Amino acid sequence: MDVMDSFQGMFDKGVAAVKGTVSGVAVEMLPFMQGFVRLCTDGWEQGWHERNGGNLTYRMTDEDVRSSQSFFYEQPSSWMPMGVQADNLRGAFFAVTGAGRFMRNVQLDVAHNVGIVEINGAGDAWRIVWGLRDGGLPTSEFPSHFMIHSVRMQATGGASRVLYHAHPENVIALTKVMPLSSREFTRALWKAMTECIIVFPKGVGVVEWMVPGGADIARATSELMKTYDACIWASHGLFASGPDFDMTFGLMHTIEKAAGIHVKALMLNGGSSDFPNTITDDGLRAIVQELNLPVNEAFLS
Ligand code: 13P
Ligand code: ZN
Repeated sequence: MDVMDSFQGMFDKGVAAVKGTVSGVAVEMLPFMQGFVRLCTDGWEQGWHERNGGNLTYRMTDEDVRSSQSFFYEQPSSWMPMGVQADNLRGAFFAVTGAGRFMRNVQLDVAHNVGIVEINGAGDAWRIVWGLRDGGLPTSEFPSHFMIHSVRMQATGGASRVLYHAHPENVIALTKVMPLSSREFTRALWKAMTECIIVFPKGVGVVEWMVPGGADIARATSELMKTYDACIWASHGLFASGPDFDMTFGLMHTIEKAAGIHVKALMLNGGSSDFPNTITDDGLRAIVQELNLPVNEAFLS
């Protein structure tokens, strides 16, 4: 290699580095990415994200894609098959946290810890078009996120965009001692705190313990999330979905707080759930009537 070639190589690397910095900063400044990063930081501060625990995905709007696509890589990654498929997500774009990356670090280096992936025309593979620098990959739970996005999109007429997985300790602790039934969990949480039935009137689904990261747990969870907008994974954590970052974080927060109250009440009551005082089923029905809530009737006695 002559001197001019090596100079040209250094110059190209310099231009690429500057472009990379500019693109990272620009995408980080966009409102959807700021909301994404804030949720990651808030979840870390709640103590729900030990090490790389938990993950977040956001189905971008056309406007989000338009505002960020000038910063996409000239050479995206190759297409990676997911093992699951969804017609209504053909060609969609998602912001995603990285596999093995820490929620704690997201705010410090967005382009390293977060990426944007494009879904192919067949709706069964992704490729990275921005971020996840230094060899990152989308979260290992992306098959579950993808399938759940598909069913929540259908269930909400397209309103659902955010899907958040965390490891909140009270929810997980309750899965050690309570029957793994959506009805039992929903009733305990509704009765823990008055606002709960208002926040999640359809209830919360419960998936028995399964191996994480694969197509089986994705299918089991997405089946339940045709009905529920949140789902507990036994001895693992919680999934919450919603139309935006506030609503989704709020749902996760409400469920975990209610679980914490139930745990405390069980301990104060010697382990028995036969509490001297709680909200009766008639009380729950009265809230439903007053606020005209789309309640899951099967969970009321
Ligand atoms: P990722 O680091 O792949 O997102 O996995 C974290 C997790 O919570 C798995 O369930
Ligand atoms: Zn997890």
